[in-house]
Amino acid sequence: MKELDPLLASNKQWAADIKAQDPTFFEKLSAQQTPEYLWIGCADSRVPANEIVDLLPGELFVHRNIANCVVHTDLNCLSVIYYAVRVLKVKHIIVCGHYGCGGVQAALTDQQFGLADHWIRNIRDVYSHHFTDLENISDKEHKVDRLCELNVIQQMLNVAHLPVIQNAWADGQDISVNGWIYSIKDGLLKKLSKPIFHAEQIAPEYRVKTG
Ligand code: CO
Repeated sequence: MKELDPLLASNKQWAADIKAQDPTFFEKLSAQQTPEYLWIGCADSRVPANEIVDLLPGELFVHRNIANCVVHTDLNCLSVIYYAVRVLKVKHIIVCGHYGCGGVQAALTDQQFGLADHWIRNIRDVYSHHFTDLENISDKEHKVDRLCELNVIQQMLNVAHLPVIQNAWADGQDISVNGWIYSIKDGLLKKLSKPIFHAEQIAPEYRVKTG
């Protein structure tokens, strides 16, 4: 596995550089993590969470999957959210999509993608929900990008609807749920919607009795 040697060499250099700047960095980090933010983003290799917001290890709790979906039966994502909110007590959750997302493009075609179809179905549902608006967009790239935005907004709502978030709000935890989108073309992030930070901002049919 000689091809992987450069990665291990880079890691040595990276750790040495950080230590040179702050000799106790890893010592402090190994004692505890106190991130203020939970990032839910796409697994796309071009959207590395820490780098694009210039945060160090320890500052961002991260969950990534295809097309940054928050599915209410996905034990993996739900466990990350639960741990971030109830144990780490993060203050902000950022659902971050990106323009030109492959998962979103897949949902706009009739092609099959094997097992991934079941995941892409979540995005297909967002497409179906906004079908008329999206069909009125003739430019293909623009249509993909609009669905990328609509998907972020839906996934952000999916976070806010979770009982774990509603319970945390009821217990007085300040948590904002945010929807952002990243452009691979210029490296810039954009806010897509106002943050959600209390239960009254969510539709009554998703509200649960707390306390
Ligand atoms: Co993507």
